[in-house]
Amino acid sequence: ETVEWDAEDAGKSGYDHYMLKEINEQPTAVRQCCGERVSELERTIDVDSLSALSVPERVQFVACGTSYHAALYGARLLRERGVPATAFLASEYDTATLPVDESTLVVGVTQSGETADTMGALRGANGAGATTLAVTNVVGSSAARTCDHVMYVRAGPEIGVAATKTFVSQQIALAMLACELTDEYDDDLVEALRDLPDKLQSILDSSSGREIAREYLEADAYFFIGRGYNAPVALEGALKMKEITYKHAEGFPAGELKHGPLALVTDRTPVFALVTAGSNPTKTIGNVKEVETRGGPVVAVTDGCDDVARYADHVLEVPETHSALAPVLGNVQLQLVSYWVANELGRSIDKPRNLAKSVTVE
Ligand code: G6P
Repeated sequence: ETVEWDAEDAGKSGYDHYMLKEINEQPTAVRQCCGERVSELERTIDVDSLSALSVPERVQFVACGTSYHAALYGARLLRERGVPATAFLASEYDTATLPVDESTLVVGVTQSGETADTMGALRGANGAGATTLAVTNVVGSSAARTCDHVMYVRAGPEIGVAATKTFVSQQIALAMLACELTDEYDDDLVEALRDLPDKLQSILDSSSGREIAREYLEADAYFFIGRGYNAPVALEGALKMKEITYKHAEGFPAGELKHGPLALVTDRTPVFALVTAGSNPTKTIGNVKEVETRGGPVVAVTDGCDDVARYADHVLEVPETHSALAPVLGNVQLQLVSYWVANELGRSIDKPRNLAKSVTVE
């Protein structure tokens, strides 16, 4: 008797899709990314070749798609540590109109290391005399070879077109980079990083993302809001949803909802609100109330702070953690909701129509 199998299914280790497998690999991805780089014993965060870098006058991130959302997050982490940092969409990065010189560090965030827009921006930065750093998942990729320095995010191979574990690994890599660049050993952050894989695992084990997905399968559109550290994850939540479900989805920094998008809110547009300690929960709850008043269903992604559950129709729980790491946890809940919506709709989850894993044209 023979057992039929094909290599593709074998690679999925029993999961229906690579995306779900890769979502479930995120605790491991975080452990791999930190690895020996973080030493609690010696109280050091030491990233590969980066110890040679001095604190730059300014940092400019260049990236596309999901990696751009990681870049927005990385820029905020650096600004919080006193380093002027901005994230640019690589396709809009233009050295002719920006201050770029020897005292600028330009960081290309790109899981594949091959994205044409990001490569173009990095070459421009090299030409303008900046120091360049690639934060990438692929050893020896074009970005790794083009930049002065490289930091690998060590997520392991990602097959699903929609980035999941590489995004989480980018977030963790950029948190370490922020500490490394500012020579700051942050006890609270390191402790939270150590506990993060277990917290991710607890979400994977208990998420009600599938039930939420079923509840709102017929939605006209999905909106995502969050402030501060959670704002990039609101954008990422919407991108993931549109990539794999083909449904209309948009993400906004929560304060922007009232400046236009609120006109679209109805009882057929669920709003996912990221409300966690340290990312201005009180103000975000104000925005949640605006949604509630207009009859919009609210799904709060929350660590329970400020009792947002009172204003929400559903809650997706995240464990408490360092305020800068809360969005890493919230993001996983949103990944799962998108995955289950796409699954219910029978979409081609690992290879969505019209999209490619790495885009090598401008
Ligand atoms: C493509 C992929 C996205 C990815 C983007 C940037 O559009 O479909 O998932 O975020 O490229 O890719 P990169 O390899 O530069 O991170």
